[in-house]
Amino acid sequence: MKEKIAQIREKIKAESIKNKESLEVFRIQYLGTKGVIKELFGDLKALANEHKKEAGQLLNSLRMDLEAIYQKHKDNLEDSSSTDEKIDLTRPSENFNIGSRHPLSLVRSEIIEIFARIGYAVSEGPEIEDDWHNFSALNFPPEHPARDMQDTFFIEKGEKEMALRTHTSSVQVRVMENEKPPIRTISPGRVYRNEAISARAHCFFHQVEGLYIDKKVSFADLKQTLSYFAKELFGEEAQIRLRPSYFPFTEPSAEVDVSCTICNSKGCNVCKHTGWLEILGCGMVDPAVLEANGIDSKEYSGFAFGMGVERIAQLKYKVNDLRLYSENDIRFLKQFTAG
Ligand code: PHE
Repeated sequence: MKEKIAQIREKIKAESIKNKESLEVFRIQYLGTKGVIKELFGDLKALANEHKKEAGQLLNSLRMDLEAIYQKHKDNLEDSSSTDEKIDLTRPSENFNIGSRHPLSLVRSEIIEIFARIGYAVSEGPEIEDDWHNFSALNFPPEHPARDMQDTFFIEKGEKEMALRTHTSSVQVRVMENEKPPIRTISPGRVYRNEAISARAHCFFHQVEGLYIDKKVSFADLKQTLSYFAKELFGEEAQIRLRPSYFPFTEPSAEVDVSCTICNSKGCNVCKHTGWLEILGCGMVDPAVLEANGIDSKEYSGFAFGMGVERIAQLKYKVNDLRLYSENDIRFLKQFTAG
């Protein structure tokens, strides 16, 4: 009996239990109702009494070892087979990338927020416009070059000839049609011009229009508003200067430069060594435009301004190729974190 038990212990060492099936074979072979242990306990009865005690102890210890081996393998197999289902809540989460906002959206939101702080609402208009809203109501004479095929994408919509709006000033007209002064609004949106695409020009880009109409609105109000805007956007040290200009719908008109944020007005490539960067066009709303839109120009006056969003994004983020904004290159876009 002793020898048999020793042999079995040797044999167990050589057993390999890799899966549930081989574990079950092991159990039946050693611990089953017709297994080795059962058989040996049967043999025990036939032993002489003086050997029974020792053999019984050896056999019991073998049985307990076998049961322990069985249980250990069973636990291991259960652990490994259920790893898919078990969720370890203490593990750190995997990294995943959240998207970033488009630089033009970031700049657009910032402009809206700056003007919201001084009471400007946001208004929008259609990108497909008629001649009246894009040109005539804004005092463009019939022969004005901006109406020319070179600048404007004309499209046919039913009977009517329409155009893709060339500026967001068309939204000024829509606001004046629908609201009574006082009016204080900005209009962000996409505009289109028939230009060859290059680093410095694109057939579509974005503008933000501003319109303020009330009693006794003066040019000083316009200048102060734009100075506030430049400081909010570029920092307290930002200065503006106004240069006389011409737009059919404003009189007087001006172009506005901001002190170069890149070289602190010392002169660099971006400001072409002038220390100044052009950021927008503006002026007092021409009385003819107020009248064309049903507003009494003796009672009311106002100012308007229009700026390019790409231009401002270029200054803020130092992106000098306009094409990057619409190519959707992930390497470009992911540099702008949601803010
Ligand atoms: N609409 C003009 C442009 O596209 C900008 C502008 C807006 C000028 C409002 C004056 C007033 O260039």
